[in-house]
Amino acid sequence: MKVLVTGGAGYIGGVVSARLIAAGHEVIVLDDLSTGHADAVPPGATLVIGTLRDTSFRVLSEGGFDAVLHFAAKSLVGESVEKPALYWDKNLGETLALLDAMRRTDVPRIVFSSTAATYGEPDVTPITETAPTRPTNPYGASKLAIDTTLAEFARLYGLGGVSLRYFNVAGALLEDGLTLGERHTVETHLVPNVLKIALGDGDAVRIFGEDYPTPDGTCVRDYVHVVDLADAHLLALDAVVPGTHTIFNLGSGTGYSVRAVVEVCREVTGHPIPARAEARRPGDPAVLVASSDEIHRALGWKPERDLTAMVADAWTFLTTGLPTGPR
Ligand code: UFG
Repeated sequence: MKVLVTGGAGYIGGVVSARLIAAGHEVIVLDDLSTGHADAVPPGATLVIGTLRDTSFRVLSEGGFDAVLHFAAKSLVGESVEKPALYWDKNLGETLALLDAMRRTDVPRIVFSSTAATYGEPDVTPITETAPTRPTNPYGASKLAIDTTLAEFARLYGLGGVSLRYFNVAGALLEDGLTLGERHTVETHLVPNVLKIALGDGDAVRIFGEDYPTPDGTCVRDYVHVVDLADAHLLALDAVVPGTHTIFNLGSGTGYSVRAVVEVCREVTGHPIPARAEARRPGDPAVLVASSDEIHRALGWKPERDLTAMVADAWTFLTTGLPTGPR
């Protein structure tokens, strides 16, 4: 297929682009490089620099596109609470421009990067796709609004859409001559923040809250390897049905506490990695664990790499992998 990957210069978009190219697809990346990196776009993909609002119609007008994989977004929960208008504008507003461009150029399919943040604080875990959606921050609310818009475009215009709701993504793609991992300028995610301490960048991991109603008092999350996540996108792309919108959770069904993640990082790096408990981070649910039974049943996807593999690959990326291959 000929596909447009928005946000393909980001962590997940770059890894998915690499897997798409390896599977024989033609990949055009559209990214404004506001948070992504040009050298995260894998060799073989064409990079167009621009925003969805200004550039998606021009790119799609070239013709022949079979699908869009849509990753471009603002994705920091804390920032979204400070600047909600930015999140509505960049996430929902720019997606509407993309969808309009798709409609005008007859692109029939979209695979969208949604999030567990659409669910908010769950009543029951593991979380299924039929769980109530009560996002607790503008980031999750803006992604939920896009999911709703996709359902409406499916009904009204026959668009085929799949929303993949990610839980916690970690790890890296490590291939000969091409390594892609997390390189956020502002890093908020647990695994890279813990590994930074092992690299000597900071004196201790900050554990945000140890008074949650969980076995060790720290938050429990469901981690999925970025390569497993990427593979789910390729399956979803093949399975998109025109006129329907489908939602799948992407997780492992297994929860790890913050302290358990730190322990795995100690084992992988051989570094003692000091940690100290601090106040809770606002907006963090105690437990987020996915049921991925639905995507397993419908598409045969299940994650193959465990948390140790995620941490090991992230560590290899941080210690040997920068920067990526030629560009
Ligand atoms: N944490 C720490 N110390 C850190 C970083 C994180 O204790 O230095 C804790 C957090 O408080 C949380 C857990 O580790 O309890 C995981 O935090 P992350 O920031 O790695 O991930 P989140 O679960 O907050 O967020 C992820 C995605 C979001 C998405 C959300 C959906 O990054 O984009 O899952 O639940 F919205």
